[in-house]
Amino acid sequence: MELCSITGLKGKITVPGDKSISHRCVMFGSIAQGITEIHNFLEGADCLATIRCFGTLGIEIEKNGSTVLVHGKGLHGLSAPSEILDAGNSGTTTRLISGILAGQPFDSKISGDRSLNSRPMNRIIEPLTQMGANISSILRNGCAPLYIAPGSLHGIHYDSPVASAQVKSCLLLAGLYADQETSVTEPSLSRNHTELMLKEFGADIRSTHDLDNSKATASISPCKELYGQKITVPGDISSAAYFIAAGLIVPDSEIMIENVGINPTRAGILKVCEDMGGDITLLNERVQGGEKIADILVRTSRLHGVTIQGDIIPTLIDEIPVIAVMAAVAEGTTVIKDAAELKVKETDRIETICDNLKSMGCNVTPTPDGMIISGGKLRGTSIHTLLDHRIAMAFSIAALVAEGNTKILDSKCVDVSYPEFYDTFEDLL
Ligand code: S3P
Repeated sequence: MELCSITGLKGKITVPGDKSISHRCVMFGSIAQGITEIHNFLEGADCLATIRCFGTLGIEIEKNGSTVLVHGKGLHGLSAPSEILDAGNSGTTTRLISGILAGQPFDSKISGDRSLNSRPMNRIIEPLTQMGANISSILRNGCAPLYIAPGSLHGIHYDSPVASAQVKSCLLLAGLYADQETSVTEPSLSRNHTELMLKEFGADIRSTHDLDNSKATASISPCKELYGQKITVPGDISSAAYFIAAGLIVPDSEIMIENVGINPTRAGILKVCEDMGGDITLLNERVQGGEKIADILVRTSRLHGVTIQGDIIPTLIDEIPVIAVMAAVAEGTTVIKDAAELKVKETDRIETICDNLKSMGCNVTPTPDGMIISGGKLRGTSIHTLLDHRIAMAFSIAALVAEGNTKILDSKCVDVSYPEFYDTFEDLL
């Protein structure tokens, strides 16, 4: 994809359904009794991988565009897979499904692409093993492919060293199959879609958030059954983030993004944009299925550098590539700290962000847990996405304000979370 600078992005858009919520609807629907009806499901490769995996586990899933019907078979209705489960590029599929598979009376294996199979899985293998699960890294390198054999699970309390919704959700799902309560404490609150949605499905689940030390705990008790739900997935704030950034930095722009999920555990980008001086207005705020939603109006603004650190990091972790792009054209210096988790995403995002910003002429210094960015002008170049969807999309926004042309290599990788990404631009020209 080749892009050049533009001005005047104007219009009203929607973004596809939330990726985290789409995964969870299919997973929870599969192990619930009855039908789960999903509207605005994200048809990105990651969520399609989740559908494929549950199909392999014997669940009938009807898909008609973004409407999906999951014919759930109850907590104990999955059947042994006849092949290796293929999670593609999706860490969420792998880590969450592992919690469910740990409680099944059959063997399974799960694997994915090269990026997925190099991401750390000990973060779930260790606590699941403490629960009595039989799970191992087949190549003994702490990564997928994973082998999961039947085990008898007992409830534990796990003090997680990282704020990770994938680790938390994995253990809560395993907790559905344990003999007593399972609880997970994390150093600060990560996205809480699992807690909100499992409650709607009828699980006995509770959360507390200690504001004195930031720690958050979620606990689940085993229950007899979950029950199918009707869910409309809100627009993904992680996808909206690219158009929020574009609206702020492309001169003479005004963009309305309708129907975006603004769950506080996801909405850190809105706070950062405001702190940077961004003109953002939330309209029509409402709650749907326990999730907060709003329309977001963004207008071109003069941005300045900020420091981003601490508890806000888990609430914007996937938006850091595009936040870094905004920082690169803002006035002054932006410091991003406490974000070492970036190193274990689809790529080492500290490296991929810094390398690509440097090649666009930005003065940026990587640090062990983030980066320091001096704002200025960007110039067009070739962007090495390393097949990381969020790098492709973030640097497509950078291209809109860079001097000269920018080539996004392997831009097709946006299909992982946002297949219509480049089409949505057309609506704003
Ligand atoms: C996700 C959690 C986050 C996020 C990922 C989706 C989820 O990962 O980066 O894109 O749906 O639970 P971690 O939980 O590993 O931080």
